[in-house]
Amino acid sequence: MSRRRFMVLVTNLSGAGITLLIAAPIVGSVLSPIFQRRTHPWIRLGDIADVPLAQPTAYVVHFPVTQAWKVPAVPRIVYVVKLNVSGQTQLLSFSNVCTHMECDVHWDTNLNEFLCPCHGGLYSIEGINIGGPPPKPLYRYEHRLDGTILYVRDVLTEA
Ligand code: FES
Repeated sequence: MSRRRFMVLVTNLSGAGITLLIAAPIVGSVLSPIFQRRTHPWIRLGDIADVPLAQPTAYVVHFPVTQAWKVPAVPRIVYVVKLNVSGQTQLLSFSNVCTHMECDVHWDTNLNEFLCPCHGGLYSIEGINIGGPPPKPLYRYEHRLDGTILYVRDVLTEA
């Protein structure tokens, strides 16, 4: 190898090394959130002792951001429904996001059903899709009770 080629090779390797030293921390800080473990902590929704039977009640909850990069927490609506099933109280907690195109559904006291205003989707009090275009029931949040205090976490399940 000629001296000239050797010097070019050394210069190129030095440049590559310096570039790697500068780029590694930047690339690492950009990509590291992807590999962080995501958790879904329980969030205290509130005391549900006064939630009446068969009367869906909306609560606002702020789940901590679990996405890789920081985005503002978006408040979510959780509908809590108490039902009397064969003498036992059944508790359901629904997302208010329509399963058709993700509009916000609300409990319509005249219809006695959840109504999606976008395309007229209807859901029963159990969250079952009973009319209009929604293809699935409303999603349910995982919840747990501590006495009369309800906790939910940002994990959705299908009915
Ligand atoms: S988005 Fe709810 S019916 Fe279409």
